[in-house]
Amino acid sequence: MYFDPKDGMRPPPFKHSVYNALVVPRPIGWISSISRDGAINLAPFSFFNALAGAPPCVMYCPNGFKTGTKEDKDSLINVRETGEFVYNMCTIDLLDAMNATSAHVPSSVDEMKAAGLEAAPCEQVKPPRVKNTPIAMECKVLQIIDLPANEGTPPNHMVIGQVVGIHVDDDVIVDGMIDARKVKPLARLGYLDYAAIMPENVFSVPRPD
Ligand SMILES: Cc1cc2nc3c(=O)[nH]c(=O)nc-3n(C[C@H](O)[C@H](O)[C@H](O)COP(=O)(O)O)c2cc1C
Repeated sequence: MYFDPKDGMRPPPFKHSVYNALVVPRPIGWISSISRDGAINLAPFSFFNALAGAPPCVMYCPNGFKTGTKEDKDSLINVRETGEFVYNMCTIDLLDAMNATSAHVPSSVDEMKAAGLEAAPCEQVKPPRVKNTPIAMECKVLQIIDLPANEGTPPNHMVIGQVVGIHVDDDVIVDGMIDARKVKPLARLGYLDYAAIMPENVFSVPRPD
């Protein structure tokens, strides 16, 4: 089949918006930020990725408004105010906590505490990182780009940050490399589906040259 996205994301026979199932698996950027008043925010973003390596940059997309409101998401408001955020790796062990932090709660709520997570301090930015994640990257905002929004729909944005500090749990370093078998990253598929990189799914392929 073929369809034009301007006719909507649910052409027959699709029962739900299909877009989230078209680019999979997607990494989950679990983004911590802090408000001007010091409230800690944590939320998952699967419109997330690494962009460049030298210097390292990442991006995430806070799209739409908070459910049932006409307010931007806290993960956008906070970085506009402070210019800082932290990428936390989401692993299979953190699935339930990650899902809990996708709930829309008042911006004054400490979302790390609410999800039963311990916060750890960062070196160069104010927002804390998730203590139990094996990988976290401290970021300073480079640019916030407005993305097109369909008529009558709330705005979409891309936040690009430069990585200024990297935390790696020593336990996931094996033979001088990060071992994905130990990290067990979580990925988002379409709809409400996820996949985890489990040890038996990891393999190496030598380059041809
Ligand atoms: C796995 C997962 C991925 C998500 N990815 C995105 C995303 O890429 N962009 C987005 O705007 N919302 C995404 N959401 C929804 C946000 O996490 C949710 O709107 C969150 O409450 C935003 O919180 P905030 O207002 O504290 O920033 C995702 C939710 C889940 C569970």
